[in-house]
Amino acid sequence: MNNLKSDKSWVEVANYDDLPVNSGKTVRFKEKELAIFRLTSGKILAIENRCPHKDGVLAEGIVSGEYVFCPLHDRKIDLSSGLVQKPDTGCVTTFDVYVENGKVYIALLEKSEIAS
Ligand code: FES
Repeated sequence: MNNLKSDKSWVEVANYDDLPVNSGKTVRFKEKELAIFRLTSGKILAIENRCPHKDGVLAEGIVSGEYVFCPLHDRKIDLSSGLVQKPDTGCVTTFDVYVENGKVYIALLEKSEIAS
C-alpha cells in the first residue's frame, strides 16, 4: 500500500469480488456508516449512507450509471461528487476508495483524527 495517500488512514472494508454489481452495500466503521457501490464499469465509489433529505438509506437505492436514486423519495445523487441533482439540493459526504490485491480500502480517518 505504498502508493496510498499518506495523509489518510485506510480501512479495509470488503473483498472486491464480494461486492454486488450495481447495488449498494452498507459498511459501518466506528461512528461512520457508508454505502459502497461497485458500478458496471468496475469502479468503486463510497458515500455517506444517509440522504440529506430525510435520511433515506442510500445503499438501498437504485443505481444508474454513476448515480443512486434515494429509495425514499427518489432524489438523484452523484456518487462521485455526492451532489444531489437539480431540481433538488444538498450533498452527501464522499470517501476516497482504493483497491489493491482484491481488497477494497476506504479513507475513513484523516491522520490528524488518529493523532488527537
Ligand atoms: S430521504 Fe432521500 S429523497 Fe427523501
